Amino acid sequence: MGDTQTPALLELSNVTAGYAQDIDVLRDISLRVEVGRITGLIGLNGAGKSTIIKTICGFLPPKSGMISYAGKDISGIEPHRLIDHGICCIPQESSLFPYLSVQDNLLLPLLGRPKQFAKEMRTRLHEVFELFPVLNQKRLQPAGSLSGGQQKQVEFAKAWLQQPKLCLIDEPSIGLSPKVSEEVFVWIEKFAKAQMGILLIDHNVRRVVRMSDRICVLSLGKITADGTPADFQGDLHQQVQQWLGLNF
Ligand SMILES: Nc1ncnc2c1ncn2[C@@H]1O[C@H](COP(=O)(O)OP(=O)(O)OP(=O)(O)O)[C@@H](O)[C@H]1O
Ligand SMILES: [Mg+2]
Repeated sequence: MGDTQTPALLELSNVTAGYAQDIDVLRDISLRVEVGRITGLIGLNGAGKSTIIKTICGFLPPKSGMISYAGKDISGIEPHRLIDHGICCIPQESSLFPYLSVQDNLLLPLLGRPKQFAKEMRTRLHEVFELFPVLNQKRLQPAGSLSGGQQKQVEFAKAWLQQPKLCLIDEPSIGLSPKVSEEVFVWIEKFAKAQMGILLIDHNVRRVVRMSDRICVLSLGKITADGTPADFQGDLHQQVQQWLGLNF
């Protein structure tokens, strides 16, 4: 599928996966994410969007197909190894420890890492506090005492600290006001400008279509449409627009 001229950072080829042995939640999924580009993944509730991320992250080994990252097969990777490969996930549910301080949450990923990595991250902590000044003010407070939007800032700050090559972002705007959601989308664009490849899942279909370089539509575990933002505004995907209630 897609453009074969630019090498993919992440490529799923015909991936089938599921939670129970006999039920496939994902069927024959192929998609790609390129360096510095955003691939948007949209679909109705229960379509299997989060399951795609769980499969990439190694929580669900694919039953068939292949997941390659930077040209290497990472199918069934151990989830705790993702960070070593430069892959970071901002999950749909919070990944923060509510009773730990903001700063401790930010520094958690460096536990057990090589010393050089830890040193770099501490230097970058300063940069992150400049990017997210409110987190600097609240750095010693328990993460759970922050507002939803501020907790999202901690998640993004944690990802930024790790400087991943690939960032998998699941429903980042869920539960946030339109204004705070827009801030989140601007951070994601900033991540892509910093040359990270992004797989973005969000229910704000309009915004995802606008900011993505490539959009995939997932329906009942299958990719039913795949194209550029322009494709999604033309006749080609009229049916998809209708299905998703889009009205460009
Ligand atoms: N741990 C699990 N065990 C068994 N089935 C699961 C599990 N997690 C999800 N499922 C099922 O897999 C299907 C896809 O779920 P998934 O969470 O990937 O959907 P989604 O597209 O992310 O939905 P949403 O938009 O609500 O986040 C659903 O039918 C769901 O009930
Ligand atoms: Mg989900």
